Amino acid sequence: MQLPAPRGPLTDRLFAELVRPPHAFDPPPADPYGGPCSPSGGPSGDPCDPCDGSSGSEEDAQLALFVCYELHYQGFDGVDDRWEWNPSVLALRERLETWFEGWLARRVPRPPAPQPREVPRALAALVAADDGPSLSAYLRGRGDAAQFREFVVHRSIYQLKEADPHTWGIPRLLGRPKAALVEIQSDEYGGGRPERMHAELFRATMRGLGLDDSYGAYLGSVPGVTLAISNVMSLFGLHRHHRAALLGHLAAFEMTSSLPNRRYSQGLRRLGGDAGARRYYDEHVQADAVHEQIAVHDMCGAFAAQHPAMTGDILYGAACALTLDRLFAEHLLGRWREGRTSLWRADAEVTTR
Ligand SMILES: [Fe+2]
Ligand SMILES: [Fe+2]
Repeated sequence: MQLPAPRGPLTDRLFAELVRPPHAFDPPPADPYGGPCSPSGGPSGDPCDPCDGSSGSEEDAQLALFVCYELHYQGFDGVDDRWEWNPSVLALRERLETWFEGWLARRVPRPPAPQPREVPRALAALVAADDGPSLSAYLRGRGDAAQFREFVVHRSIYQLKEADPHTWGIPRLLGRPKAALVEIQSDEYGGGRPERMHAELFRATMRGLGLDDSYGAYLGSVPGVTLAISNVMSLFGLHRHHRAALLGHLAAFEMTSSLPNRRYSQGLRRLGGDAGARRYYDEHVQADAVHEQIAVHDMCGAFAAQHPAMTGDILYGAACALTLDRLFAEHLLGRWREGRTSLWRADAEVTTR
């Protein structure tokens, strides 16, 4: 994967350091505009709404954080792997994470902490109360081929490394919740058959749509709201103190997957997608109906019984997943309503293999 184009002073500085051999540098302030961002704008008047692809500081910060995290996954061409644990990068990442945790806190109200045995019911109530717009209903019935391709470009940022961020949780668990997470992840990784890995199924979807299926090919094409979806998983996965939120996040993912994936498959069929291109979505209709039960009861329920003080964190992680999905859907549908691209860099939209 190539480093993308910088989006502001933070990524400008970070990328300039990363292409050199690992060394110490003074990490820049994580908010280059000198104060907290808000939907109404930062101190400089810079618009900070993550749904506005033209905004400055949040785009810059989300991309900087994404690149810091990506050093723990596949890394970048021309960036030394030893940067992964470089103290200057970690110091910058910590500043970015503090900013991002505040960003989340302003957007995601903390649900009340349920009793441990009530966690499955509380998760179900949280999902049932979610009233965000339905991207899957739109793409099933009305979206055109260009919009479906854009949707897949956005999703490729996570789905080409599907399941990896939640895998960080495995060594942080013991007993029943650990076995449950491993059971889910084993399916995500194809149960020993590489061609059945969900990331590989998604590559087939991308090829079917004439898109570049190589890892991270569209990193420079997606806006901050798409990057935030991946960043929240890495934030929760890479910090032990967020492990309960990581489990709640995965549970919300699995609980809100089966029906939308059926609709995505129907939409793709309407647009002429063949069985190979649709297989990723078809696979998730069945698989995630099962994963939902494992995640809610065997993983979150059992973890709550082990850690009664952390039930609020489980719910908060689920709420973060739901909120980011809503912001993502609002961004895409809002841009399409205006007849505009939902991508950060529209010229990349038509890049094909
Ligand atoms: Fe999956
Ligand atoms: Fe799943």
